[in-house]
Amino acid sequence: MSKPPAALRLDRLLANLGYGSRRDVQALVGAGRVLLDGVPVAEADGRIALAPDLPDRMTVRGRPLDPLPGLILMLNKPLGMTCSHKEAGPLVYSVLPERWRRRDPAISTVGRLDKETSGLLLMTDDGGLLHRIISPKSNVPKRYVATLDRPLRGDEAALFASGTMLLDGEEKPLLAAELEVLEPKLARLTIHEGRYHQVRRMFAAAGNHVVELHRDRMGGLDLPADLEPGQYRLLAAADIAAIFAGG
Ligand code: URA
Repeated sequence: MSKPPAALRLDRLLANLGYGSRRDVQALVGAGRVLLDGVPVAEADGRIALAPDLPDRMTVRGRPLDPLPGLILMLNKPLGMTCSHKEAGPLVYSVLPERWRRRDPAISTVGRLDKETSGLLLMTDDGGLLHRIISPKSNVPKRYVATLDRPLRGDEAALFASGTMLLDGEEKPLLAAELEVLEPKLARLTIHEGRYHQVRRMFAAAGNHVVELHRDRMGGLDLPADLEPGQYRLLAAADIAAIFAGG
């Protein structure tokens, strides 16, 4: 994980968290709307230690301070949302509080899910952590549940596990992937890389068609059953460790 700074000027911290410009933040502090341990902070330009308990000790306009830089969260991505900062249409970022969308460093998705794929999507403002999760060296497996148009033939598990399967237009074979057949038209597939539309293209190469796709696990981290589509949860250190423990 990249190390966030140990201390920052208060106006810089709050501006980076999206509370407004430094001038806005200075006005907030001047109006006594920023409290530390219940006491109004006097100086907007004083340095403040970025201790993990700061959001429990500081309030802004009467509400707990937002998560400090270095956050990672999991979202149960709903269908129909795009993992992009730029494209038109509903974006996954729209589920986050508005202020979180003005943070610097910005919150980005850890890899992507297609617009029509649901399930476990990680989002972070920590570039170092993001790269560690998606790096092939970390081998963080991703598990999907696919609903298929036609019954499985029976040879797909061997094909996907072969390590020699080629996708249309590609020259590098896919890494071996594990298929578990749950029902004739329902399967779980665990992959160890992240090529464009990979799961849909793998089933297409096996003569089938994915009608629904849902990611339910990354590494050893499961999407909790009580996290509804569109809901998100901040991850704790143990959850982050679990991501890397499932390889
Ligand atoms: N494979 C796909 O085809 N789509 C996804 O969203 C993820 C993996």
